[in-house]
Amino acid sequence: MERGKLKPYSLSKAYGLLEPGPVVLVTTAAGKKRDVMALSWHTLLDFEPPVIGFALSEGNYSYSLLEASRECVIAIPTAAMVSTVVRVGNCSGRTVDKFGKFGLETAPAAVVKAPLLTDCFANLECRVIDRSWARKYNFFVLETVRAWMDPAARNPKTLHHRGWGSFMVAGRTIKVPSNKR
Ligand SMILES: Cc1cc2nc3c(=O)[nH]c(=O)nc-3n(C[C@H](O)[C@H](O)[C@H](O)COP(=O)(O)O)c2cc1C
Repeated sequence: MERGKLKPYSLSKAYGLLEPGPVVLVTTAAGKKRDVMALSWHTLLDFEPPVIGFALSEGNYSYSLLEASRECVIAIPTAAMVSTVVRVGNCSGRTVDKFGKFGLETAPAAVVKAPLLTDCFANLECRVIDRSWARKYNFFVLETVRAWMDPAARNPKTLHHRGWGSFMVAGRTIKVPSNKR
């Protein structure tokens, strides 16, 4: 049957159409262990303070540190950090100290134990407030308890994952009249 210009599209690729953005780096810490991973499956759930939901697979070492500590930092890298982001997202903190291996500069957070990533232009300190879908969907709901921003970062170019090593780069801002935030 004809459907205009539309052709069937593989369900294995369809998620790439809806990938949210930007790609973030999530740091976690529990006891003497700490870790960092790349994450793109996140969504906003409330404005102020920002409540964020993300899907963090249970196979990841970060999952065990998040479950143990119930807190993390969500750091937003610029597009210039793409190689680091991909490398951080393709190995596990179980076997590698990713902070040392990839030269990630850290600073202590104010509220949570997980470190800030000072090369990222924004860092959000978060606490898990709901894990009722953690078992079913690896989905956590987090409240932002402190936010950090590099004031010099104007219209930073961010990475938006299209799946399988493909990224869209955003950064151009357009403004139109609006009554909404
Ligand atoms: C661009 C990118 C986006 C990713 N997004 C997610 C995600 O949303 N959720 C997830 O669980 N893993 C995601 N990953 C995979 C993890 O980053 C990867 O499994 C990582 O090695 C986990 O590290 P860990 O074992 O040290 O926690 C992503 C990887 C990349 C490269």
